[in-house]
Amino acid sequence: MDRTQDYIADSLELHLFFARIMKEHAFFLKVGFLPPNTNLAKEGELFLRQFEGLLSRAIALSDRVVRCCVLDSGELFTEFTDRAECQTQRLTGTMIDSGLTARTMRLKGRDCNAELCVSQDLAQQVRRLNRDGLRLVERLITFKERLLCGVNSCSLFTSNYPLFIEHILREARLYRAHLMRLEGLARCSGQELRDSELFWNRIMMEHALFIRGLLDPSEDALINTADDFAADYKRLLDASASANDKTMRNCSALDLTQKFRDFKRTGVEGIEACQIRSLILPLLADHVLREANHYIRLLEA
Ligand SMILES: [Fe+2]
Ligand SMILES: [Fe+2]
Repeated sequence: MDRTQDYIADSLELHLFFARIMKEHAFFLKVGFLPPNTNLAKEGELFLRQFEGLLSRAIALSDRVVRCCVLDSGELFTEFTDRAECQTQRLTGTMIDSGLTARTMRLKGRDCNAELCVSQDLAQQVRRLNRDGLRLVERLITFKERLLCGVNSCSLFTSNYPLFIEHILREARLYRAHLMRLEGLARCSGQELRDSELFWNRIMMEHALFIRGLLDPSEDALINTADDFAADYKRLLDASASANDKTMRNCSALDLTQKFRDFKRTGVEGIEACQIRSLILPLLADHVLREANHYIRLLEA
């Protein structure tokens, strides 16, 4: 496969995952504000709609272009996504375009080794998509930085944890770093790209911390399990800071993340079926499950 083919497939696979993740971050921010911050809620909603637009353009270019292994990984949608969107829309009163999920689920993949028919037009459309995505994610990063400043100086209240804002800020910076790499732009050797495993282990640890903090205090068994996952990822992070044996690290990260993925899957199921008491929106439960699936695909590659 030549470079243009890689560029097109890598770009579209990136957007299918990250544009969806970004639109959901915007959604979580939007619904976390109280009446004094209606303007911020509006700004959050605008980002949500803009990322929906970006994702829609990516989907339109992706049929038989993106690889089957990405479509089947559970990082773009899960068996719970459709229901999670529907329930979350009803619970929050904020519209979620579930047509994007339906269209993503209908996409046909391409075998990893199959030749991709590349037209000049497709390459140009992908380039435009990357440039527009880059501009949009830059603006979202600035927005998240502003919110973090407000929260850290106690001049802004939101129902999202400060660490959650930091966390979604890091994910947005990773998206930007990937886009800059694809577009051959200067800051391509960003810290975010250097150690993907370190990055995602930290993300997974924080998911465990968010889950434990958003569960109802009466859910002690689930809280204990979430605490255990957070401690396991912490150990892995401490070990990888010193150890050199990357294979060992990979093995335990994969093993742990598969277990954590199963825990998250049970979590979405329980939340959708109203069997778990928590402050976790169904869409947030599905969001963190998809991120685990994404990390597992990277580890298995
Ligand atoms: Fe996220
Ligand atoms: Fe995350």
